[in-house]
Amino acid sequence: MVREPDSLLSLTDFNGAPMAEDMVGKTFHSLMARHGYVFMSSVPETFDPVAFCKRLGDFVPQYTGVLVGDVTPEPGMDEFYHAGNTKPLYPHSEGYDFEGLPPRYLALWCETPNTGAGGETTLADAHAWAATLDEADRAYLRERIYRWETTDAMRHLGLDLNPEHPVIEDHPDGTIVRYSFNNLVRGDDERIGPLLADAKDHFERHHVAIQYQRGDMLVFDNWRMLHARNAFTDTGRHLRRIQIAHRQAP
Ligand SMILES: [Fe+2]
Repeated sequence: MVREPDSLLSLTDFNGAPMAEDMVGKTFHSLMARHGYVFMSSVPETFDPVAFCKRLGDFVPQYTGVLVGDVTPEPGMDEFYHAGNTKPLYPHSEGYDFEGLPPRYLALWCETPNTGAGGETTLADAHAWAATLDEADRAYLRERIYRWETTDAMRHLGLDLNPEHPVIEDHPDGTIVRYSFNNLVRGDDERIGPLLADAKDHFERHHVAIQYQRGDMLVFDNWRMLHARNAFTDTGRHLRRIQIAHRQAP
């Protein structure tokens, strides 16, 4: 079932004027705490997405080193499992292939929306999924350490990452769920396959689907939410992307 997103923030007020920065910040953080994501629309010309992200934390370099990336179909990437084409992406958390903490937030905003069907970013709450598991399964996902691989597209670009992490990690500032249906190395572990499939089923039943207008911006808590993408046909679709590091509580 596809749900409409219900954590929505207008950056223009009821008089048609840009919302004040302080109010936007307060509403943003309360929606983020409640839902794990915020979808911002009616974005005025004066809004600066990079400055907004800087207030959330330090930027984490993307695979090529860029701090503000582009998500748009790239030539020669069609054969790969990769964000830089028009194909669907499986539900995943960002940065499961990093050695350390995954980015706390991921921000995506729309430079050019796609025409035609598809192209939605989909999102579901992995903490809600973990809460549906038996205590024994949750404990297993905390204790068992897995090897994770990077995508074949990144290997093609010469990056071969193999960090080791559990699926569920407790951090003083929150629970981290790392997830990849296809890039967690299952080895001879018979218990993990059904758990990964269960998370994917949960995602399919509970996700919201975000369709962007020009300027719209999505930010989600990447320790809590899984995301994916529906396939699309319009190769003019262009999003921009920032990964934001966790900021230690003072
Ligand atoms: Fe992603």
